[in-house]
Amino acid sequence: MRIGIYGGSFDPVHNGHIAMIRSALKSGFIDCVIIIPSVRNSFKLYANKLPPPYRLYMMKETVDGLGLKNCYVSDIEYDIEGVSYTAVVLAKLTSDEYIRAFLAENGVKRKKAEEHHEFFWIMGSDTLGTFETWYKPGEILNYVTLLAAVRPGDDTDIDKAKVSIEKNLGGRVEIFRLNGVECSSSEITDSGDFSEVPEPAVEFIKRHALYTENTRLTGVSDEARKQFFEYSVWMHHYLGAKRLLHTLNVGYLSAHLAGLYGADKDKALIAGALHDCAKELPLDQQLEMAKRYTGDLFTEKKIIHSSAGATFAKEELGIDDSEILDAICYHTTGRGGISVLEKIVYLADKIEPARNYMDLAPIREAAEKDLDSAVRMTAVAIKDKFVSQGREIHPVTAKMMEELGI
Ligand SMILES: [Fe+2]
Ligand SMILES: [Fe+2]
Repeated sequence: MRIGIYGGSFDPVHNGHIAMIRSALKSGFIDCVIIIPSVRNSFKLYANKLPPPYRLYMMKETVDGLGLKNCYVSDIEYDIEGVSYTAVVLAKLTSDEYIRAFLAENGVKRKKAEEHHEFFWIMGSDTLGTFETWYKPGEILNYVTLLAAVRPGDDTDIDKAKVSIEKNLGGRVEIFRLNGVECSSSEITDSGDFSEVPEPAVEFIKRHALYTENTRLTGVSDEARKQFFEYSVWMHHYLGAKRLLHTLNVGYLSAHLAGLYGADKDKALIAGALHDCAKELPLDQQLEMAKRYTGDLFTEKKIIHSSAGATFAKEELGIDDSEILDAICYHTTGRGGISVLEKIVYLADKIEPARNYMDLAPIREAAEKDLDSAVRMTAVAIKDKFVSQGREIHPVTAKMMEELGI
């Protein structure tokens, strides 16, 4: 097959990106497109507004929602350590073993997936002009033909760039015609005008309350922000889409609440973001990890991921801050003598924007004004649920409820 590859931050994806994909498919040069939302872009390392998983799943939902045919979204950059240079990504993606498995996983018939493939790197005419300054451009051209978009009225001297690349680097450059709007992700997020964002992405952005004051992470240190991005990539290996986005949402909301209630925003962001990191590990592994943090305190299936998460974060990420680890450990149950940070993660877990298991509006409103009353309302709702289901409340939760006067 002739495979187009389209990389970008997609922060957020907009109609200009979609036009690029559609025009490339129509150009006659390619049969399908692999879209790669970036993880560690060398041009803007940690400068994206959203950590990688949001951009990955926003793109997936957009491709599905728009019904884009012959388009596949790839998470290949999650398996690359350090900066995801194009030359490094292409070495992996174009290997027979990788591409065949990838296409088969995406529903391409085995015979087609296993035939010889030719690769094209889809890019704008503006980036073609800077291509020779990229990391190992000659190596990139060993893997792909450059497929550059030119729009009507484009004043870039694309022929000059093409001749220069072909002469200096010995590669091949093809030009295709781009029909569609011109827009920029940063203009969209700066202006708050999302009219050029495709509907499925708008839905996604609303559901997770992205590109808001809370996701700007004002007051969070650069170091914590970087960790938040890195940990989100790490968790992609252990959590499915829904839970990963949930746990990241809890990070954002926890940082916001920490700002309101005088807790450490960095710690809240990290504890919130990691709180469910162990939840999809095999149960026996969870139990064993839980024991290493809290002995025999937690043994019930639904609870052990919390203290297992503290062990997981400690051992795999080297986190040794006991306030962070305890906030992870007690996020499900709370406990007597609960700290402000623990209350925040406990609460954020129950009310982050994508949660919709009950009418959360009153608790969300309370959370902005009075932490204790919001925690109390949450605990009451949980108690009611447990009583109606005939389930026993864990002694550490009972102790917290007693202290809250429930
Ligand atoms: Fe949890
Ligand atoms: Fe959770």
